[in-house]
Amino acid sequence: MEEVSLSGRVAVVTGAGGGLGRAYALELARRGAAVLVNDTGGTLDGTGQTSAADAVVEEILGLGGRAASNQDSVSTPEGGEAMVAAALDRFGRVDAVVNNAGILRDKSFGKIDWDDFHAVQDVHLRGAAYVSQPAFRAMREQGYGRFVFVSSNAGTFGSFGQASYGSAKAGVIGLAQVVAIEGQRHGILSNVVCPLARTRMTESMLDAPEALSPEHVAPLVAYLASERCRETHQVISAGAGHFARVFTGLGAGWQADPAEVVSAEAVAEHMDRILDSSTYSIPLSAPEELEMLAPYVAARTAAGQAV
Ligand code: NAI
Repeated sequence: MEEVSLSGRVAVVTGAGGGLGRAYALELARRGAAVLVNDTGGTLDGTGQTSAADAVVEEILGLGGRAASNQDSVSTPEGGEAMVAAALDRFGRVDAVVNNAGILRDKSFGKIDWDDFHAVQDVHLRGAAYVSQPAFRAMREQGYGRFVFVSSNAGTFGSFGQASYGSAKAGVIGLAQVVAIEGQRHGILSNVVCPLARTRMTESMLDAPEALSPEHVAPLVAYLASERCRETHQVISAGAGHFARVFTGLGAGWQADPAEVVSAEAVAEHMDRILDSSTYSIPLSAPEELEMLAPYVAARTAAGQAV
């Protein structure tokens, strides 16, 4: 098997003071990367600050790796800039960013407090952008980069009580896909991991601590952060050593008579065919979806209907 190496590479891992981020930082360092271990070290709801990142740096140094600690928050543009600047100052470049930092402030939709909602969005969605933009600029200069964004099944499929978290995590996928599309010509790849592991974030929901340990997710992150990775624009679910693609497909659908403006009743009657997912394609950008719709637009134009 060809080795997955990060030798000579520099990685920034946000929220790496514990849980999944710590496992990612250790695995990247073990494979040769110099790692900026970022974490504010707060509680699960994002309050407080501790030196959690320092302990992980000690661990990496103790194993003979290279690492530096950073406590900037991902949740402001200044924090993102400072973090990337710290990696550049300390290690001279930034090759990979793992946007892993996260908090939870779960509440059912009817009870949401907007400060909580915004705080969750600030860390997961805006935070991923604040860290990634300065890194993207540095990667563009060097013509090489790897982004690993972290989403969740709460974002892809929904989860009770997680409107703030689920919407932020779905947004992360949109962000990652645009970075993939804009990054490709600069040698920058961008992919998303939807992890499942027992950490402080999930200990009340998930049992089986060993089967669901973060170490089972870290190998995917190491691959996606490495030079060997060729994929981009992908979303991959990972947990307990099981890995699977998550995707948004476009069904074959139902085409109304091109000579008529369709009625709501006709839409209602054809809902089974509209929702049928036995045949689908997976567009890799908005223009690709438009290309797929082009024949229907052409048929309607030929029939003399306004589009
Ligand atoms: P965790 O709570 O152990 O890790 C999150 C880390 O992010 C913490 O160490 C925290 O201090 C840090 N952090 C929070 N706000 C920060 C900020 N503003 N700046 C820098 N660091 C900050 O939880 P876990 O489970 O390791 O989560 C890691 C990521 O994986 C999160 O994005 C989470 O949403 C995601 N995830 C985890 C799943 C799981 O099964 N554990 C499932 C789906 C997604």
